Amino acid sequence: MKKVLKPTLLALSMTMGGYVMASSAMFSDMINVERTAPVSASHWQDDKVKMDAFLDGLISKMTLQEKVGQLDLQSGFRNVTGPFVNEAYEQQIKDGQVGAIFNAYGADFGRQLQRIAVEETRLGIPLIVGHDIIHGHKTIFPQSIGEAATWDLNAVKLSARVAAKEASADGIMWTFAPMADLVRDPRWGRVSEAAGEDVFLSTAIAVARVEGFQGDDLSQDDTIMATAKHFVGYGLSQGGRDYHTTDVSEHELWTTQMPPFKAMVDAGVATFMTSFNDLNGVPATGSKRLLNDILRDQWGFEGFVVTDYTAINELVPHGYARDDKHAAEIAFNAGADMDMVGQLYINHLEDLVAEGKVSEDKINTSVRQILEMKWRLGLFEDPYRYNDEARAERDILSNDNLAAARHVARKSFVLLKNDNQTLPLKDDEIKSIALIGPLADSKSDMIGNWAAAGDRKSHPVTVLEGFKHRFGDNVKINYAKGASYDYITSKEDTKVRDGLGISSIRADDSSLKKDMKRAISAAKKSDVIVMVMGEEQRMSGEASSRVELTLPGNQQQVMEELKKLGKPMVLVVMSGRPNDLRWADENVDAILHAWYPGTMGGIAVADVLSGDYIPTGKLPMTFPRSVGQVPIYYNEKNTGRPYLADNPNQRQEHYKSRYDDSPNTPLYAFGHGLSYTQFDYSEIKLSSETMSVNGELTVSVDVTNSGEFAGEEVVQLYTRQHVGSITRPVKELKGFQKVHFGKGESKTITFTLTAEDLAFYRADMSWGVEPSQFDVFIGTASDNVKQASFELVEK
Ligand code: NOJ
Repeated sequence: MKKVLKPTLLALSMTMGGYVMASSAMFSDMINVERTAPVSASHWQDDKVKMDAFLDGLISKMTLQEKVGQLDLQSGFRNVTGPFVNEAYEQQIKDGQVGAIFNAYGADFGRQLQRIAVEETRLGIPLIVGHDIIHGHKTIFPQSIGEAATWDLNAVKLSARVAAKEASADGIMWTFAPMADLVRDPRWGRVSEAAGEDVFLSTAIAVARVEGFQGDDLSQDDTIMATAKHFVGYGLSQGGRDYHTTDVSEHELWTTQMPPFKAMVDAGVATFMTSFNDLNGVPATGSKRLLNDILRDQWGFEGFVVTDYTAINELVPHGYARDDKHAAEIAFNAGADMDMVGQLYINHLEDLVAEGKVSEDKINTSVRQILEMKWRLGLFEDPYRYNDEARAERDILSNDNLAAARHVARKSFVLLKNDNQTLPLKDDEIKSIALIGPLADSKSDMIGNWAAAGDRKSHPVTVLEGFKHRFGDNVKINYAKGASYDYITSKEDTKVRDGLGISSIRADDSSLKKDMKRAISAAKKSDVIVMVMGEEQRMSGEASSRVELTLPGNQQQVMEELKKLGKPMVLVVMSGRPNDLRWADENVDAILHAWYPGTMGGIAVADVLSGDYIPTGKLPMTFPRSVGQVPIYYNEKNTGRPYLADNPNQRQEHYKSRYDDSPNTPLYAFGHGLSYTQFDYSEIKLSSETMSVNGELTVSVDVTNSGEFAGEEVVQLYTRQHVGSITRPVKELKGFQKVHFGKGESKTITFTLTAEDLAFYRADMSWGVEPSQFDVFIGTASDNVKQASFELVEK
């Protein structure tokens, strides 16, 4: 039978040369690789006079009801992303009760809704159409945490740029991204949407994403508004349970949670989204301190604030509002301009104005902020400019976009372990590969969660397809699913999970045994076993928290059986969170973490396993040994009783900060990631042993690629302040450089530290430095560094 190539494989075969050689240079016309200016550029200033005149005129014609309508965001049905959807949204658009809509993508569909707003309402004000474009629109890039693992800001920006190009042709002009919540608990499903545990890395990535989505001019038809979300503290939900309470000290809040958000304001982000959690007793959606005093007054944010999904209504169960009307009053007065789905503004704001509880002036301000964005998006000029079927046809899932997705995917993989140079697979020696696991040939899982408009059925290239494509007739691929990743449950649990739509199986399910047998026979016929195991994509993301970090289902059991065959074993993990990989670490020869790699994921995995591309990713989040160590992160405090694992007299270490049944150290540290080549670091050279608070210090290291391949290394710089007015972390990331090295090449990598790099929120909450002894570390991972010391002095 003639083999029919799937669309993406077809695109791949047509542009093979370009794909294989894909490099950052190839995409430089798609991104501006230098930092772009904040969005408020000159074009915007010139326009402002015209805009003000237009908006003054428009607002003066609006009734209070029409104004309140602009503050309402409704959800269509193209995706369902929350517990409640409103079926009457088309009628409400007609009634002038909707300012914006989401979950309603498609150039044609958007045009249809826009037409109602423009032609059938009294003032014809166009809608903003939003969507959760988190890691790609139709061409799906790696899950956000995987993008963070690239430690490559150009790659991250490229992903957002491509997403904006596709979305803006498909009826969308607003994305609910980036999510910049800092995360420390892998049980929380939304770590997959985050950029990890470190504030320096997360901030840089958040800004790169804003720049990628918004470009430097929102009025261009291929840029879209970004949303800084979720403001704020949501990443610290207690117990890793979604939507749970957060209790965060002021120091913690300002040190780890606020910086990415402040940086996005400075980068000109158009909108902010409130978070669901209550923060130190005040739900973020009702917090005047957050939404007004900090965001507007202190930071000067000029865009508009949207709530999260029904978050105003949730002020009632939070116990912060008496009823819906009271909730609307609190949220609006706090500074939430737009109500997502909950309809409380359209139901109550007019009455609240009549009762004097909400001022019409404040409503005018919110309306103006929303209408300004409509102006800046060019919607008053041409409401259909984002509904361009011809551009959609040309720009969506284009070869360039697929090449970009492949480029970013292979950069996102982290080589966790590689004993005896098991990887790369040498196709001149290996004649057969057993490819085993529930994720080896699962299209739907390739694109991960929160790939809202992404197609799960035909476009994604699986690892099996990627392998066949890469190894062709030279190597026989013996595939067997082998294992299940469904939760294994008791009868009672099964009922509960069924009710929630979560798939689960019983341990005595006979099909599990049959699958395992097939895997063993495939492995027996093969020279090497490659297992693609992990979590089903829906096990992370919103409302997908877990209490265990182990691989679900019978995957471990199947790996244990395969181990008995004594063949080389490679594990490719696909998952949206750090998992407990202790067994694999002890028993498997090589482990590659591939997150959810996106539409071109299977090709990218084949690129890396075959050695066509040398892995360069580094962990943005600590991998604990077990869930019991959570929260565990590299930049912890030293404590008064730091445990010394290398003290030969361990009796002295008994009353120290440690566990009886586990080392303190993680399985894989923040910043860890191996290469097929080898990078050697010299000792650190400092320009001086002292640094004045007004001066700077140059810190450098020679890095040599002493291995067998050309490759990229992420050189990481950390500091530690010995003594402070509050206790300081044992290490803090302050810089990194992703550098390419030819085989045998040496380079001097230099960082310049200034006082700003060493500043922090001091005991009195002021921002600045304190004279102290400092350590500076440079290395390949947070737990593998060279060290030097200097003193920060007043003069
Ligand atoms: C709820 C999520 O928390 C938020 O991130 C998302 O943007 C909205 N739903 C809309 O889908």
